[in-house]
Amino acid sequence: MQIQTKEADGAFGARITGIDLSKPVPGEDFARIILALGHHGFVCFPRQSMTPGALKAFSGRFGGLQISVSGSFNDPEHPEVMTLSNMRQDGKPLGLADAGQDWHTDMSYNATIGYVNVLHALHVPYRDGEPLGDTLFADTKAAFRDLPDEMKARLDGMTVTHDFEKFWESMRARPGSTRAPLTAEQKAKRPPSVHPIFITHPVTGERALYANPGYATRINELEPGESDKVLQFLFDHQLQEKYIHRHRWSVGDVLIWDNLVSLHNAVADYRPDEPRMMIRCQVSADRVFDPDFVRATLAPLERAA
Ligand code: SIN
Repeated sequence: MQIQTKEADGAFGARITGIDLSKPVPGEDFARIILALGHHGFVCFPRQSMTPGALKAFSGRFGGLQISVSGSFNDPEHPEVMTLSNMRQDGKPLGLADAGQDWHTDMSYNATIGYVNVLHALHVPYRDGEPLGDTLFADTKAAFRDLPDEMKARLDGMTVTHDFEKFWESMRARPGSTRAPLTAEQKAKRPPSVHPIFITHPVTGERALYANPGYATRINELEPGESDKVLQFLFDHQLQEKYIHRHRWSVGDVLIWDNLVSLHNAVADYRPDEPRMMIRCQVSADRVFDPDFVRATLAPLERAA
């Protein structure tokens, strides 16, 4: 397995070749993947071919898998695998068409936050020979590092409320949205949750800002007006051009990103007749914060050293 980073070591975004993710991944390679994710935020594995079952089996190595509450586009055999697509068959949509089309961090709204997303590209839209529908990432470790010291000191120990309905409603408000309001049952499955404003990555020990514009609604220790002001500052701060990195898709890519150190945004620059289709697993951080999981995952690397 070969890990290539785009720039100097430590840069955001990496590419891993020489591995077939549809087969069981050896422990040593899995350890390198976990480390690469923590350090580089997102990792692309080009030219993969994965069934929903294989995607689920691989993703499940990182932690528990979330099942989407919208339900309609979950794989019938493997409901943990969801289709994201603008494609239609016999007039019916084949996937959720507007998934992730603004800045957010997946599953920050859950009591147990999200760890990684695993996306496999089955169709990528092209125009004039150029791929469309890129996914953008913002580096929240760098954003944390560059915050003014007095702001770091002031906010340290504070907490943020994250609400699933915030992003859902902002998508619904867009012209042409087919999303229905969340039902009482769906809301009950996704109540708001509260998390520290700065988190420490359990594998790398690095700190990151954890307040994304998609789901963060309130800094709980501040008055509402002050909370709005500081949140807006943090949203603008972490979305500066210098923190943003772009993934241009090719069919067959498997892209994994670490939600603990990134925000992402699926760019909707393609038309309904330019087909895009991804299958996705969302993995929760239910294991990665357990030091025994991290130790056991990284152990094969120590044995090999
Ligand atoms: C997501 O937010 O999980 C979707 C990203 C994408 O389709 O590029």
